[in-house]
Amino acid sequence: MIPDVKQVLIPSSEIQEKVCEMGAHITRDYRGEKPLLVGILRGAVVVLGDLMRKIDLPCEIDFMDISSYGAATSSSRVVRILKDLEEDITGRHILIVEDIIDTGLTLSYLRRTLLQRKPASLEICALLSKPLRRQVDLSVKYLGFEVPDEFVVGYGIDFAGAYRNLPHICILKPEVFAKDLLSVKMEHPPIASVRGSVTGNPSLLTSSQRTAEDV
Ligand code: IMP
Ligand code: MG
Repeated sequence: MIPDVKQVLIPSSEIQEKVCEMGAHITRDYRGEKPLLVGILRGAVVVLGDLMRKIDLPCEIDFMDISSYGAATSSSRVVRILKDLEEDITGRHILIVEDIIDTGLTLSYLRRTLLQRKPASLEICALLSKPLRRQVDLSVKYLGFEVPDEFVVGYGIDFAGAYRNLPHICILKPEVFAKDLLSVKMEHPPIASVRGSVTGNPSLLTSSQRTAEDV
């Protein structure tokens, strides 16, 4: 058993199989084009790295880093671009690659922002989605797996910056979150967020704390 892990939700072998299928699908759909894959830092780094090698087309990659927070009851978020794209996307075929979609608010904002730059097309590819948590309609053309409303880590996805290098998608033991919540209580006000990670087990937090997160 992997330390701190309560359950392996999706084993590495299944992820690899799915990423292969997604790559084949993208290859078929973008035949004759040179898509630009846009990875959202930092969680999408692992899936982007595997996915691009399953796309049998000339393609390019770029990255954005964004931080996002907002109240669970509102249907919008404050999204801040911390690192913008290097490439001009006007007239390009853009495929946003994300690790996991929760409420969908961040990607919905990002999609609107990137569309203003007039790409030839803009689609979304995500490894995981939590449909039970969705707050906005978001069309995700390439999706790996739907997962339950559980906090997951691994394959690029973190808790407090850790566990990104686990090869599987996993659920952590509850005591891991309890430990983190204790330290958060002492060091930060309740809604503080740690860059690049969610602070505390969302199931233990209030709804507004739960969405006070960086993507
Ligand atoms: P949303 O779709 O705007 O609510 O935010 C999605 C982002 O929240 C993802 O890119 C992750 O960074 C983070 N997130 C959502 N669910 C999880 C989870 O289960 N584990 C770790 N990060 C998560
Ligand atoms: Mg993310």
